[in-house]
Amino acid sequence: MKYIEKCRAASSRSYYKEVANNERNIKMNLEEVKKDLKQILSEKRYTHSVGTMNMARELAHIYGEDEEKAAFTGLIHDIAKEMSRDEIEQYVKAHNIEVDDIEKQNLGLLHAKIGASIAKERYNASEKVQNAIKYHTTGNVKMDTFAKIIYVADKVEENRTYEGVEELRKLAKQDLDKTILILIDFVIEKSNRLGRIMHPDTVELREKLINGTK
Ligand SMILES: [Fe+2]
Ligand SMILES: [Fe+2]
Repeated sequence: MKYIEKCRAASSRSYYKEVANNERNIKMNLEEVKKDLKQILSEKRYTHSVGTMNMARELAHIYGEDEEKAAFTGLIHDIAKEMSRDEIEQYVKAHNIEVDDIEKQNLGLLHAKIGASIAKERYNASEKVQNAIKYHTTGNVKMDTFAKIIYVADKVEENRTYEGVEELRKLAKQDLDKTILILIDFVIEKSNRLGRIMHPDTVELREKLINGTK
């Protein structure tokens, strides 16, 4: 079943309205949101989403942010990640989502902006939640602590196994900015390897963090 059809099937259930009506009901409804995601995402992506939810909650506790809101955002951050090229193109057109030059070359990046839009449409997510989802791939100088938590949780959650992830997981609990700087270095390395241009938002964030962590 195509992504849009899966979403429609899931949307017919009434609990969405409960979530949409009151973000404070998030805790009660996380299990329902999980059921929803299970229908939309592959098993691997679902597992990553739950891992991000757990890590986001833990980091929110450490940095004094709303734990349940962070868990919810971590859980849904990749809700648009498995859309096909056609679906991405249709969605951005239908929702007037601005697509920059780098996103045109790498459509996958758009899952962040589309995910933020879906979070608003389906769950009536707040600006804070939407921004955290919007910035979770490229990063952005406008990220607040909450958005930084989601950015980092996505990349160091329990199912990630790349070299150095354990050290990063420890660092994430002590210093979000330093963790993001190291993660951006990984992005630079990957972009160079694949011959991709770095997104200007990532470059700008790196500069800001370097100046801020001196
Ligand atoms: Fe993502
Ligand atoms: Fe992710």
